[in-house]
Amino acid sequence: MKVETRDKLYEGKAKIVYATSRPGTVVQYFKDDATAFNALKRGTIVGKGVVNNRMSAAMFERLERARIPTHYLGTLSDREMLCRRLEIIKIETIVRNIVAGSLAKRTGLEEGTPIRQPIVELYYKSDPLGDPMLNDDHVRMLSLATPAELAWMKRTALRINAVLRPHMRTRGLLLVDFKLEFGRAGKKLYLGDEISPDTCRLWDRQTREKLDKDRFRRDLGGVEEAYQEVYRRLVEGTHA
Ligand code: TMP
Repeated sequence: MKVETRDKLYEGKAKIVYATSRPGTVVQYFKDDATAFNALKRGTIVGKGVVNNRMSAAMFERLERARIPTHYLGTLSDREMLCRRLEIIKIETIVRNIVAGSLAKRTGLEEGTPIRQPIVELYYKSDPLGDPMLNDDHVRMLSLATPAELAWMKRTALRINAVLRPHMRTRGLLLVDFKLEFGRAGKKLYLGDEISPDTCRLWDRQTREKLDKDRFRRDLGGVEEAYQEVYRRLVEGTHA
């Protein structure tokens, strides 16, 4: 794919977004930088950018085959992905299959408790506010998305779960929960951002070992090794 990278449009905690020579597209560059707790904790996970770029590409391709529209247009290099340029909706949509993280804290349920029917949660994508949880009425009050857009986002989040969860299971991974971002281009909505061990909780199906960013957040050690193991299973497909 012949695309020239131009001006930096935006630099986030884990990615840089560049304009390109092709109108309506951007390049997402995946860094090794890691943050947690609204950037109170900072570090580097060596090789993370490559893992997150390649895993996101593999998951986006799988979703496209299931007719779920994503911003993914192609892989340019180990750390660079060509994407449709979106106007990002400032809502983080979370899907949960097993209790963990903030849901365990909020409910008092033990981490690892199965959830019979997957849960969708909404958070306000706002660093200064620390991403507070929202409901549909707050979304309407803040004009973050129209009721029709929000309904589509929630429905699509559950469809994405229905595609990714069984796929990951065949590769020996439990998809505990994950975060999605959606955006607008023209009159359509697309899935944006990334799908990676930064944005998903992934546990080994047999041992329940954590193979995601919680190893960094909670100082569990073996962070790089966990990211490489996810790469082997979901990108190379080498899992018995
Ligand atoms: P939580 O249990 O901390 O609310 O996280 C739920 C999921 O969302 C988990 O898979 C990690 C992901 N996540 C992000 O991608 N970005 C964030 O800033 C946070 C807090 C969570």
